[in-house]
Amino acid sequence: MEYRLKTLTSWMEQQFRELPGLPTNGTIEELLMEARNTLVEWPWLPAFWVGALAISVGYGLYLFYYHELVWKRDLTEIGYNHILDAARIGKSDRRRVDVVNRARRQRKIGARLPPPYPNGWFSVLESEELAPGEAKSVDCLGQNLAVFRTRTGEVHVLDAYCPHLGANLGVGGIVRGDCIECPFHHWTFSGRDGQCTNIPYSRSGAVPKVAKLRKWVSREVNGFIFVWHHADAEVEPWSFNVVQEIEDGRWVYYGKNDFLVNCHIQDVPENGADVAHLAAVHGPNMLSGSDIRYSRAAWADFGMHSWLASWKAPEDGEAPHVATMDLVHSFRIFNKLEIGKIDVRAHQIGPGYVQLMMNTGMGPFVVLQTVTPIEPLVQKVVHRFYAPRNAWNAIFQKFAIWAESVMFERDMMVWNHKQFIDNPLLIKEDRLIKSYRKWYSQFYSENSVSFTMAKEKLDW
Ligand code: FES
Ligand SMILES: [Fe+2]
Repeated sequence: MEYRLKTLTSWMEQQFRELPGLPTNGTIEELLMEARNTLVEWPWLPAFWVGALAISVGYGLYLFYYHELVWKRDLTEIGYNHILDAARIGKSDRRRVDVVNRARRQRKIGARLPPPYPNGWFSVLESEELAPGEAKSVDCLGQNLAVFRTRTGEVHVLDAYCPHLGANLGVGGIVRGDCIECPFHHWTFSGRDGQCTNIPYSRSGAVPKVAKLRKWVSREVNGFIFVWHHADAEVEPWSFNVVQEIEDGRWVYYGKNDFLVNCHIQDVPENGADVAHLAAVHGPNMLSGSDIRYSRAAWADFGMHSWLASWKAPEDGEAPHVATMDLVHSFRIFNKLEIGKIDVRAHQIGPGYVQLMMNTGMGPFVVLQTVTPIEPLVQKVVHRFYAPRNAWNAIFQKFAIWAESVMFERDMMVWNHKQFIDNPLLIKEDRLIKSYRKWYSQFYSENSVSFTMAKEKLDW
């Protein structure tokens, strides 16, 4: 025993001596004496280290408190792993995109799909994605748009292609006052009405009246920049619900998720009326992950989510473009202990925007969902989380973003491979889906571009 202790002590001494910056000879006693002398010489040294540690911890906590969580996934990341795994294709493999695209082409998408670009407000960018004086090109809803922000903060949306020789104003266009200058020959267009206001090399200074771009009605609200997209020009846009707590800064932005989903836009909000899928897809424990091949793993059975949901079309006298969903979520451990109760009231406002007001025992928060068709069968879906600024939310909101992302990715795995069935085989318990489809059909009109037309335009 004594022998072992001695060996250990000499081993420790050896290690101690090899520490960088320490003398390589002398016993532990001598080294300790040296340390003591150092302390006598610099008595403030411990205080310095404690202070440095406190500052680092404080700074870490500060960063954590203000950190916004952004959970972003592209089209290849969710729902294709069964194919990618089988082909042994990893994250950085270049063949990844080709394999996913092949799977997308092979899918039978269904017959008689509704028009891909419904009528309503759609998010084109989030507010912080467009700085003052910045111009961007955005492709969505079968359109190519130039979106720009003046130095005073106003946002304008115009058709992207310059009527002169076709340059894209969103790519290299310069914001001048409330106008945008084309990168090709510097013609300038007003953000107010799209009219060309200046042709710098025109000797007469004249500007043809027809030199005009389509101006899109836009509105910046609740952290998003929306455009009004309607197949019938004369239809007035409905007014927007402002979340007062966000507008006046009482609730702050905690982060978001951002996905590309491979399905028809109508499939995404249909989830709200499809109450039977909640137990099937979102019942299994969130800890078992988002891959629905494994999310029903037995080891995670100790905890299950329960959902009580109802979906309601507007009644007479209510805004026809707003449907309501009520949802109560709780998490049950061993089917007994109930935790994590959340009451949700969701308003589906038009075809591509949902406000989910959440109430938990620890306070309220809101999730804003936008769905924007990038292509007939590619939807950009964003959920932004807002809540009062406090220590609880600094932790809870990150958890909520993660949990919601896991649940949404489970839906994505279904959406990315499903077929659109125009006349689905519904049973009595599925009746809300029928009501939902009837309600959603108000967002298509006779002039809506058909699915086939939109596809052809894209495939040229
Ligand atoms: S293409 Fe825009 S100014 Fe010529
Ligand atoms: Fe779902």
